[in-house]
This record gives sequence, C-alpha cells and structure tokens, in this order.
Amino acid sequence: MKIISLKKLLLYFVCLISLHLFAQNTQERQSVLIDKDWRFSLGHSYDTQKDFGHAEGYFSYLSKTGFGDGPAAPNFDDRAWRKLDLPHDWAVEQAFSEKGSFSHGFKAAGKGFPEKSIGWYRKKIIIPESDLGKIISLKFDGVFRNSKVFFNGHFLGTEESGYNGFEYDVTAYVNYGGENTIVVRADASMEEGWFYEGAGIYRHVYLQKTNPLHVISNGTYVTSEIQNATAEVTAEVTIENKGNYQGAIEIVQTILDASGKQVVGISEKTLAPDFYKTAKITSKLQVQNPLLWDIDATNLYRLLTQIKQKGKIIDSYETNFGIRTIRFDPEKGFFLNGKSVKLKGTNNHQDHAGIGTALPDELQYYRIKKLKEMGSNAYRCSHNPPTPELLDACDKLGMLVIDETRLMGINEYHLNDLKRMIERDRNHPSVFCWSAGNEEWNIEGGIVGERITKIMQGFSKSIDSTRPVTVGISSGFKSGISSVVEIMGYNYMGNGDIDAHRNAFKNQPGMGTEEGSTFATRGIYFTDDAKHYQSAYDKKPRPTFYSIEEGWKFYATRPYLAGMFIWTGFDYRGEPTPYDWPSVTSYFGMMDLCGFPKDNVFYLKSWWQNEPVLHLMPHWNWNGMEGKEIDVWTYSNCDEVELFLNKKSLGKKKMEQYGHLEWKVKYAPGTLEAIGYKNGKKILTDAQRTTENPESIKLSVDAENPLKANVAVITVEVLDKKGLHVPTANNEISFSIKGGKILGVGNGDPTSLEKDTFIDDIALFSITNLEEQQLSETNLPKELPSYPENAWTIAFKNRDYKNQASSYVYRAEFDLKNNSKTNSVNFFYKKIGAEAVVFVNGNKVPASTEDPQKYILNTDILKKGKNTINIVAKPLRKIKDWDVMNTDPGIIQVITPSESWKRKLFNGYAQIIIQKDESSSDVVLSASAKGLKAGSLNVNLKE
Ligand code: GAL
Repeated sequence: MKIISLKKLLLYFVCLISLHLFAQNTQERQSVLIDKDWRFSLGHSYDTQKDFGHAEGYFSYLSKTGFGDGPAAPNFDDRAWRKLDLPHDWAVEQAFSEKGSFSHGFKAAGKGFPEKSIGWYRKKIIIPESDLGKIISLKFDGVFRNSKVFFNGHFLGTEESGYNGFEYDVTAYVNYGGENTIVVRADASMEEGWFYEGAGIYRHVYLQKTNPLHVISNGTYVTSEIQNATAEVTAEVTIENKGNYQGAIEIVQTILDASGKQVVGISEKTLAPDFYKTAKITSKLQVQNPLLWDIDATNLYRLLTQIKQKGKIIDSYETNFGIRTIRFDPEKGFFLNGKSVKLKGTNNHQDHAGIGTALPDELQYYRIKKLKEMGSNAYRCSHNPPTPELLDACDKLGMLVIDETRLMGINEYHLNDLKRMIERDRNHPSVFCWSAGNEEWNIEGGIVGERITKIMQGFSKSIDSTRPVTVGISSGFKSGISSVVEIMGYNYMGNGDIDAHRNAFKNQPGMGTEEGSTFATRGIYFTDDAKHYQSAYDKKPRPTFYSIEEGWKFYATRPYLAGMFIWTGFDYRGEPTPYDWPSVTSYFGMMDLCGFPKDNVFYLKSWWQNEPVLHLMPHWNWNGMEGKEIDVWTYSNCDEVELFLNKKSLGKKKMEQYGHLEWKVKYAPGTLEAIGYKNGKKILTDAQRTTENPESIKLSVDAENPLKANVAVITVEVLDKKGLHVPTANNEISFSIKGGKILGVGNGDPTSLEKDTFIDDIALFSITNLEEQQLSETNLPKELPSYPENAWTIAFKNRDYKNQASSYVYRAEFDLKNNSKTNSVNFFYKKIGAEAVVFVNGNKVPASTEDPQKYILNTDILKKGKNTINIVAKPLRKIKDWDVMNTDPGIIQVITPSESWKRKLFNGYAQIIIQKDESSSDVVLSASAKGLKAGSLNVNLKE
C-alpha cells in the first residue's frame, strides 16, 4: 500500500480525467436506465390459455434452456399490448371491489383476482456488437412480486420478494449487434404485507455493462472513525473476475467532496482474482477536518473506486457516503455526532395517492420534505426495505432511517434478504439502525423469538458492525425478543409497561418503534360512523391505545427513550381500521394519502421543531349549527394563546409543554381568530373564516414540490368570491394537460372509490374456430367469393406441407363485447400465409400504412357479438422438415378511450401529479367544473 503525495495525486487526477473521458465508452461501466417503452399485459394465474400459452410447451423453460414460451419467447407478438414506462403499478389502475383485500385497499387486483394478479412486461433492446467481451446484466430495484425474468427466451431466475433489488448476468445469452428481448412475469397473487403493496415493476430497471473484472453490485462498504479533527475512512471493495485476465491490478480509491473536489486518494496493488472468484480489498484514507453528515447539514462525500489493469482504468464505481457517528445510550438515548438527538419519527409504507407504489423519484423527495416540514427527523421503513431513491432523499434532505427487512427467520430466504438489504444500504449515512422484524406475534414472547433474534442480530453485525439492530415488539416487553434485542423497539405503550421493562433491562437502549395509532379524517370534526369519518381531534383511538399527545408526552419526558415513531406519517392504502369496506385507505396518518396535513401535523410541528407555530381548528363553516357549541383547539408552542370570535375575546390560556388548548365556542359565522404570545409579546395569529360558496378553481404547485424535476405535485382547491379557500368544498373537477401527462389523482378521502388513473382500456380478443378450404387460384380475390359451406375443415389439421394447395381461404370468429363508435379496433395479423388478403364480415380491410401486418377495423363493419374474419393466403412453405409453422392468425385489440381525468375535492382539496414530456419545457394544466370559474397553471418545470 502506498500513500500518494498531493502533487502526484494532482498529476494522477489530470491523467485520470483524460483517461476517464477516453475510457467512458470503451471499457468502463455503463448503467443505463431502461424504464422507457415496455409492453404490458395482464395474464392469468392458473389458466395458461389466458396466460398467453405460457409454460404449456412440451419442454418447459425448466426442462431445456432457452425454452421460454408464450410471452417469454423472444418472437412472441406483443404489438397489441399496452405501451408504458416504468415505474408501473397495475393494482392502482384497477377499480375498487368489496371482494378485494382489506389489507391491500380493496383494489380488484392480486389475491382473489386470478385475471388481475399476473403482469407480463416485455422490452426489446439493441446491444451493439462492440459490447462483446463485457459483462452485461439486468438490474431490478424491485418487482412486486414473485417475478420470473427471461432474456431471449432464457429463464434467468425467480425473485420471490417484492422488495429486494436483484440482478441477472445475461452476457452469455446476448444477441450482439442485434435485438434482445427482456421479459418479466410478475405474480402478485400472494401478499407479503398486510398493507397495500402494489403490483408489477414499480421500481427502476437498469442495463449494466462492465469489464469482466469489476466491482460487484453493492460491492463497497465505507465506514469512518473520527479522532480529533480527522476521519479515518475505511473503504472496502469486493471485486469479481468473470474474465480470464490473471495478473497485477491496481485499486484506486479517491474521496471527493460534495463539489466534486478530490479530498484524498490511495492506490493499492493486488492481483486479479481467479476466474469467477471475488476478492476484498480494504484501504484506509484520512479525511482532515471532515464535514459531518447531520440532519441539518447533509454533507456527503463520494468514493470513486477504480480498477486499473496495466495502467488503464477498466472499471469505475461510485459510492455516496457520509461521515458521522451514531451511538445509543441506555440512559440518555440517541446521539448523532456526539449530540443528543431525540428521534421524532414516523412509520411509513411506500404508496401515494393516484400512483400507488409506482413513485417517480421526485415523489420520494416530496414526501420526505413534507415530513421534515412537520419537524420529523426520523423515518421507519415499515415493514420492508425501501426503494434506493428513498434513502437518497433521506441522505440529501437529512432524515434518519430505520431500515427494515420483511420477514424474521434464520434460513436462506430470511438471511439472504437481510444481507441484501444491509449490503445495499449500509453506505447511506441516513440509515442509523437495522430492524430485523416487526410484531412477530407467533414468536416474540418466547424462546424461538429469542433464538431467531440472536442469529439475525449477529448476522447483521457480520455485514455491518457499525449499526445496531432493533425489532418492533408488541407484546409483553419482558421475554423472548425483548430480552435479547440490542435496541428495544416498543410498539405502543398500551402493549406493556415500558418503564418496568427498562428497569429490568437497564443496559438496553430503547425507542418507540410504533406509537399513537390514532384515527383521523382530514378536515372532519365530527365522527360519523355511517359515513366512515373520524374526527380529526387527537384522541385515544382505542381503550389501550394512546393519542399522539399522550404518546409524545411519555417519550419526550424520558431521556432513556431515544424517541418515537408515529404510526404513521402518511395515510396508506389498506388497513382502513376502524372501518371496513367501502373505506379503502388507513386513517392513521398525520397527513392524508396525498400529503395534505391533518391537524395533528401542527401538534407535532409545535413540539418537534423550534419555529413558532399557531394552528387553529376546526374550520368555521358550520351553517345550520348557529348557537351550538363547537370544540375549538389550538396547537402552538407559544406561551399563551388568546381566542377571539368576531373580535370578541373568548379568553387567553397558558400553553402547557407538549400540550394543546381547548375552548368550547358557540358557533356564529364570521372570523375565529387565535393570537399567540411569547414572553408576553404577540407573535402569531391564525384565523378560520366562514366562507361563501365556491366560485373559482385554484391550481398551485405544492410548496414541497422538488425543484428541477420532471414531475410536479399540484394542489387543487376552490375559492369563494373573496378569494378564501373553501374548506368544505367537494366539487368534481375535470383536468386536461398540454406538454405533459397526468400520472394520478387523489384527494385523501379514505372512502373515495373514484378512479386513481384514467387510462385507455385495452382488451384483447382471440380469434377462434379457424377453418380452411383449399383453393386452386393463385390470385388473391378483391372481393370475398362465396365458398361451399360443407367444404370447411379444421385449419392446418394434418397439413401435408409437401403438397399444399395454391392458396387457402381461412374463416374464423371473434366476439366483441360491444361495438361502441369511440372504440379503436385493430387486428394484429400473424403470418399464416406468404401473401394474404383480409375480410371482416365480408368487407375487405386494407393493411395499415405503419405496419403491413396490422389491420385497422372500422367500427362500421363490426358488430356486437360474433364477427367473422376471412383470410385468403398463399401457403407458407417449410424450408426444413422440422420447421414449426405458425398456425395462429393473430389477435383483435379493442381500445376503449378513458373518460377525461377528474376528481372530486375532499374537504377543499385534491391533488394531481403531472409529468412533463421530454420534448417540452412548459406544462399547462387546466381545470374546470360545473358552475365554477376554470383554473389554469403553467408549470415551468425547468426552474
Ligand atoms: C401494528 C402494526 C402495523 C399496523 C398497525 C395498525 O400492530 O405493526 O403494521 O398494522 O398495527 O394499527
């Protein structure tokens, strides 16, 4: 090992940059996002016919390599399938159904819906000849779930988990210099979680090309130790040799700061590992006066790892990391960089309004910003590893993370998942704790739980020794998992005596991994069980559970507890407790499914951060309740708050720490106003005003919308004639867009069964009862002649390919459910003859200009029910005796255009998520509704 001097390093860097430029397109790695232009269709979970004949072959793809059949075969005709870009969640696109799963938000998809539980994805890519010699792999960030991947018909593997990232090496199967076919079959017929999980390829996919000698995926591990003003960074890298090179190599490790400036570098000489073997190389680098990563100062560094062979860079790999220290103290809680930090956390699932689990990266930032705005500094990924972009957002925005594996156990299934999560995520400075499980009721109180925890904990340490392990525990708090887990994870004060546990286990730090599972509907102030509405005043949800305020008072006043994680930051689909159908989303969130705050947000904001807060609730539109008492609450961190109704004081009250204030106020329309005082001085006011009826629509870009993004989150609301937001409005608003597309709409109403997406419906109809007659003519007819009815025989049955007729006429049927004039109907013909003419219901149909094997069928010649198709064609000839001839004439596609995008406001708000077209810079969103002045918004997403 040698330490490079500064001068040498400078020189080296100049060379490096020039080499880098030179090497970029030759030997260094490329990672190309391949989210665009996939074909998609639903299949079937047990009817192989409806699953496009997949796995029906005499030899299955598990019998003979390259025997992927049906859509898994490279030559499968997918022209009639829908075109889409990833990420994609087909569950969110479905209607709601009472037969759907409570856990998954009653979407008519997945469990119980065999025709909506299998999703097929196909994509073609060109891989140039020049890539021969590289290692080519496909990288998936996550597919829900049980995915099978095929490449050029070759089965690559199955990934059961819907949350793991996975990778397949396809080098040997590539058609270099030509087209290659990627096929994914996702099977969402089983649930992994008891919460909405989506369905399909809902995270990114990459095509990666590297040198045979390369850094493996997630192959770096960067840790640091801080002594005085120096951080000693340990950079460990695992390299693999899938080639034949044997001999000397150099590993160059360079640390760059946030501006890209080199901080320090080191070079290690070593030998290439043997064929298909790996090697680990560890380097130590000193960073002087490191800028620490913290919640408020998200200083990040980048480690550039390069492999050099005979002086030439053959692989470059980048790792973002942060320098910081973490420590749990059983008496004093959690410390970040030596400073005590109370964890003000939320639990969250992955989904969002309108788009389900298919979140564009921008939405990860949006959601983390929303949580930060509330004062939160910690996030628990309940109950599965998140998408990598969520962790990037947490690194960049300053949010501590508990990263959780899906299932407890000690076998390959469990430990391999845990390993992959830790190896993928251990360089993120935001991640401060691993969670090995959650509420494992079967085992948590007993010896089995104790044994499993000990193994998972020790196993975690063997992959990452720098972070502790927790488990969310819900019963007893005294035996089983809770007696051995490193950081006790209390799930709810109501589930046991936390102080008693702590007294029995004085050396065990602890935190509230779940607390305050309260119910609230945004903008609702009277519980109405008939309507499934829960009032938004923070209250005890169930006898043994606690309110947000009770929870926070308990955790805030116990230094030995590191903090608490509220169940949950955002509402999510599924678990609509305390209701059932037709409620479809949870009521637990501090914010609704869109991220619109419920009033609890302001309780937390008052006590979770230092800026002055004053929030007055409820709204003041109580027409018909004149003279009746209404509960008025304020959330604030002011010393005192005075309340006024129409300028008349209703009294000043002192705020208790971690409390809130309450008044009973007889309703009279007008202005309800609160004034907040600090040290006797008036510092804030908040008011609720009685509004008039809605008059106009307002569209605005959400305050937490990420900048310089392709995606924008737009708030839709209505104003009265004075320009006041109408908090009770529920108008239905229709949308149109130019320069972009709408990804989804929502409004945060847990009982809304409105559509999340408006996409054209594509239905595929098979062509059945194919019959034939031999013809002696060689010319194909211009009009359909009549053929003797008794001469029809089953097509292709016992065809003697050596003695075929001059031409054949085929007759078949297809059934249409309707023949609406607005439908587009296409026949995607698959060659059953050398030349052919097509007649539908006796009318000759010309081939389309864009594709000679596509026939656009005018609805004038079609009818509801049975339609007849005739094809007159010259026969295809076999070249070799064993050639298998196509006997399938193709498929009928019916596209039913969707209605235009629309959504009702819920208590004054709706949300619309838009994405700009690549070619345009401005997106114009327009909104209209009956009786309201239309709204329009020009979103310049470049700024
Ligand atoms: C907890 C569980 C969470 C969620 C919550 C709802 O027991 O860990 O995932 O189900 O209850 O109250």
